Formats: sequence, C-alpha cells, structure tokens
Amino acid sequence: MSEHSGQQGITMDVPQHGRYLTFKLIAGEAGNIERVKQSIKSASAIVKDHSCVIGFGTQVLQLLDAKIDHSLVFPNFVSQGISIPATSDDIWVWLRGEDPGELLHISHQVSAELGSCFEVSSIVDGFKFKEGRDLSGYVDGTENPEGDDAVEAAFSDAGESYVAVQKWQHNLEYFASLKQQDQDHIIGRRLSDNEELDDAPISAHVKRTAQESFTPQAFMLRRSMPYSEGNQAGLIFVCFANSPMPFKQQLARMVGREDGVTDGLFRFSRPLTGAYYWCPGVKSGRLDLSKLSID
Ligand code: HEM
Repeated sequence: MSEHSGQQGITMDVPQHGRYLTFKLIAGEAGNIERVKQSIKSASAIVKDHSCVIGFGTQVLQLLDAKIDHSLVFPNFVSQGISIPATSDDIWVWLRGEDPGELLHISHQVSAELGSCFEVSSIVDGFKFKEGRDLSGYVDGTENPEGDDAVEAAFSDAGESYVAVQKWQHNLEYFASLKQQDQDHIIGRRLSDNEELDDAPISAHVKRTAQESFTPQAFMLRRSMPYSEGNQAGLIFVCFANSPMPFKQQLARMVGREDGVTDGLFRFSRPLTGAYYWCPGVKSGRLDLSKLSID
C-alpha cells in the first residue's frame, strides 16, 4: 500500500464557507529560487488538515524543475460561438471552514507566508447554498464518485491530483424567467426531486457530461461552491482528477466539439477564468513537496 494519500480537503464534502485565493510570482523574484522555496514551504505548513487545499501552476513547476506526469495547458476552446478563457496563476489556495471570519484570518496568514515572493491576484469567497446546490437551485455533486471510487478518480498512487478551476458567472434573472421544464432540460434533472430525466435533450448538462459515456471514462470529483460579488453571482467550478484529461474531455463535449451541440448551461452561464493546478500528495501528515525539491 502506498504511504501517500491525497490532501484531506479534496475528499471531504464541501464546507459551509470557502475562500479561494490565487497568487502570482512577483516580477523579479524568479531568480531567488531559495526564497521561493522557503515561502512555499512556510505556506504549505498551513495545509495540515482539511481546512486548506493547495495547488501549483505551470510557472512554479517549471521554475522549480518539477517533473509531474501531465502538462497543465488549459483547454481554451473556441467553438460554436463560445470561447473558454484560460487564465493562469501560480498558486491556488482553497480555504475551507465553517466561519468566514476564520477564513479571512487564515488567508492573511497564507498571504503573509507567501508574501516575500508572491502577490495575491484574486480572492473569491464561496459558500454552500442549502444542502449543496448551485444558485440555479439544482443539487450539485449528485453523481460524484464516493469512497474508494472517489479516491481512484481524484488521486494518483502518490496522492497527487490535478484540479481544474473556473469562475462561472450566471445570469440568474434570465434563468428564473424560463419555464420549469425548460430549466430542467438545461440541467437534465428535475428540480423538484433531483431525478434524472430520460427525455432530456442531448444538450442537457448531465447528458453532455455523463462520466461513463466517454472513452476512456471521465470520472472526476467535483467540489464546486457558489459565490456572489455585489450583483454578480455564479459558481466556482472545481474538479479534481488523477489527470487533467477528464475535465478536458467533458469541456470539449460541452462546447460542441464532438457533435456541434453545446451544453444548455451556456444559455445562462459563462466561464470568466480557467486554470489547472497540480496538487501534491501528503506523506507522513505533511505535504510532499519533494517534486518541488523542497523537503
Ligand atoms: C455553471 C457551471 C456548472 C454548473 C451550474 C453545473 C451544475 C451541475 C449539476 C446541477 C449537475 C447534476 C447533479 C450532479 O451530478 O452533480 C452536474 C453534473 C455534472 N457536471 Fe456540472 N455544472 C457546471 C459545470 C461543469 C463543468 C465545467 C464540468 C466539466 C467540464 C461539469 C461536469 C459535470 C459532471 C461530470 C456531472 C455528472 C454527470 C454524470 O455523470 O451524471 N460541470 N453539474
């Protein structure tokens, strides 16, 4: 049995509150490799339980000469009048908890630890809506794999994971203006009881993304959370997998690259950002940063 496991916060259910931070390497710091390593090491010490998940982007991996198994090039598809943005940041942190005040304080701590080499590039606060619904009202996460299947989908043997993160902005007024059946057909499930609809159109989101319908099958562990910022609101879509492939396969079908049919979701929502990050595994209770040459 492997002595590695995945970061705890990935396997656990979504918390009541979340805070997403991204960081960029400060221009001019790329030459200070030892300082970069030290700040990553101190910030990573905060990832000791399920309250924080951390991932690293291409620039950090290249700078520290990390040999990971897959490329993190994000699929910025342009298809059927839809363009998927690829936006890159260097470190992604997902703080998880029950108290937004606590998350604020931990985020200051993480920012301070990284501060000598990295600056904050975005902060978004997320929350659980009801028992885990998207702001459209539909339950999100029903078909997530569970138990050993979840571990198999989300992690490599070394407990590493690839996360795809996108900030989707919803047009909730438009969605609310649609008839109930039309809404149900966008998702492919019935709002009233969350039952999957056999007669949903092929554009329905759950028909586009049915995980076992891909070759190879495209299982992933979704851990998305709604957010709202002033008048804007939507979903921070987050999915973990043992390679970047499942997300890419699904997104390709969502934008119509297989058959020209686009996902019903695009009628009321669009991604504003998109990036992959590599999430290291855990060994002896600590993040295993050996691939970043940090011990
Ligand atoms: C606005 C953004 C999105 C919203 C509101 C959304 C919402 C939902 C909802 C309500 C379900 C049905 C219940 C469930 O099984 O969770 C679902 C299923 C699913 N979604 Fe999304 N989703 C979004 C984006 C995405 C993206 C970008 C992907 C992948 C590229 C994706 C992959 C999946 C998968 C794999 C399923 C389960 C399909 C199955 O095997 O039945 N979703 N989503």
